[in-house]
Amino acid sequence: MYRKPVPALFALIAAAFVVTACSKDEEAVVDNYDPARDYFTFANTDQFVTEHLALDLDVDFEAQELRGFAMLTMRRLDAAASQVTLDTRDLSIASVAVLQSGTSVPAEFHFGEDDATLGTPLVIDLPAATGGSFDLMIEYRTSPASTALQWLPPELTAGGKHPLMFSQSQAVHARSWVPLQDTPAIRITYEATVRTPRSLLAVMSANNNPLTPRTGEYHFDMPQPIPSYLLAIAVGNLYFAPLGEDTGVYTEPELLDASVYEFADTQAMLEQAEAMYGPYDWGRYDLLVLPPSFPYGGMENPRLSFITPSLLAGDRSLVSVIAHELAHSWSGNLVTNATWRDGWLNEGMTSYIESRLMEVIYDVDRVDEERVLSYRELLQDLEDVPEPMQALAPRLDDTSSEDFQGGIHYSKGQLFLEYLEKAFGREAFDVFLTSYFEEFAFGTITTEQFLDYLELNLLSQEGSPVTREQAEQWTYQPGLPDGAPIPRSANLDSAAAMAIAWADDEIELADIPVGDWSPQATIHFINSLPEKLSKEKLGQLDAAWGLSKTSNAEIGRTWFIQVATRRYTDAYTELEAHLNRFGRGRLIAPVYGALASNGEDRELALEMFERARGAYHPITAGWIEAGIKRAAD
Ligand code: BES
Ligand code: ZN
Repeated sequence: MYRKPVPALFALIAAAFVVTACSKDEEAVVDNYDPARDYFTFANTDQFVTEHLALDLDVDFEAQELRGFAMLTMRRLDAAASQVTLDTRDLSIASVAVLQSGTSVPAEFHFGEDDATLGTPLVIDLPAATGGSFDLMIEYRTSPASTALQWLPPELTAGGKHPLMFSQSQAVHARSWVPLQDTPAIRITYEATVRTPRSLLAVMSANNNPLTPRTGEYHFDMPQPIPSYLLAIAVGNLYFAPLGEDTGVYTEPELLDASVYEFADTQAMLEQAEAMYGPYDWGRYDLLVLPPSFPYGGMENPRLSFITPSLLAGDRSLVSVIAHELAHSWSGNLVTNATWRDGWLNEGMTSYIESRLMEVIYDVDRVDEERVLSYRELLQDLEDVPEPMQALAPRLDDTSSEDFQGGIHYSKGQLFLEYLEKAFGREAFDVFLTSYFEEFAFGTITTEQFLDYLELNLLSQEGSPVTREQAEQWTYQPGLPDGAPIPRSANLDSAAAMAIAWADDEIELADIPVGDWSPQATIHFINSLPEKLSKEKLGQLDAAWGLSKTSNAEIGRTWFIQVATRRYTDAYTELEAHLNRFGRGRLIAPVYGALASNGEDRELALEMFERARGAYHPITAGWIEAGIKRAAD
């Protein structure tokens, strides 16, 4: 996965400066890795940039394809450049033309070599007379194998009567449904006309009008410039219900009431986020609750976050995911990581804001519980992830795109910001973040730019409690620096103590006040059980607390990982039911992994996967396969 481990990224950056002064021989030993370059695109963005995209697409469920036109409004940066290279993957291109001052001139084009991660470059030769600003009109169709699109038959939807299609473009999949410059470094506005079967509704990461009549032809505008990974579309038997004045939810009618109940706090979250970090720049904020195969908890598509139905626990206990996706409206969508190597500036900062919002909307104890759980996962990640990838801003030029999404960006990034918050005080740090969003709004940010801005505004103050060197230790070094905050929760400490006491027969299950506990405390109890625990005791616990039948997806995930690790075979039927009920990678991939690595059940894991895989998204299936394979090594 990672070709050339390096001790520290800043050593590399320093080496890149030295290189100019080196003789040829010395130069050969230092490679020219450029941390600010996006290694996940073929596009020649130093020569041309896209400013606007106009889509005109037919949604064909029978052929499982999108078909139509993409018009890219482009500007030339390099007067000598005559070829535009776009990113594509599995697209069929029928024609390319250059439109300029009302005339259309056909352009020659060819595909370059395929790459498993990056797809296929589309090279377009511009006609000789092409000026500095022009439109590229591309007629194309997607393939049923498009890595961004999942075409669900009616059986895999809540209603069971209509098909449903949704996209997932992050990180490098937009290119499999639109030919474009697929890099977060470029921002575009967009508009789209989408034709669907008459009874279905299309929604996009754009200005969805809740009152749109269901005509089968829908028009969208996205007037704010966004990076390509935020292009999103879904089509299905979708209906809308309001949550608040500027917020609402789209989903199949069967899930509408449950969604309205679960996500009732969305409007309050939006208002709180604005109060803390400045205006919400996007118009409405709606949710789209998808079928179970959606591979993530949520995806921050602007104006319309895509959400897993596994959050519908009935008690609002999993809505930190909503706070997270909403927070991306600032950290990520407004100020965007320049390349995926800077992903912690999207995900770490978002996790930080998510917790801050949850503290206000709920309470600090609940959030401390969530902090402790993510810290525990982070410590596990730090054991599993090779050192060079433990930096917040790791070297990233040779990693498959789905691999670079570890917990490091999220939890270590959050801890870094909590460390800064504690050092400078909440008030000063809030002022800093608000001005950061204002300064870099609708732009991109590298780790180095962030550090410079931090230095300018906080670190260079007289008597600053944090030095630049300390900040760089977080961004460029493995592990956690000395002085990293350690999340604590009295509730979870007590749950852990009870787990040990019960395992040692010092207390009875009846002595444990599980009825008063949060799901997070139950999760921590399960995770704190000692390695040695009889099957009989596991059975008692399951019977008393109904763990195998839990309706809380995160409790189920935790329990079934333990069931698999400990080979508690009495619950294997329910374990398989869990694997069939959910499609979100986080909820199921580690359960398969635990089964495959318990020393006995690798075959069983493969069999269960074979039975369930038809309902999974290819991204999730990929994670499961990788997990089962890792277990074999
Ligand atoms: N943007 C991510 C999802 C993502 C990351 C998709 C990388 C593709 C590549 C989203 O905001 C996210 O972080 N989702 C988490 C939510 C959780 C941390 C609250 C998820 O899906 O688990
Ligand atoms: Zn996120």
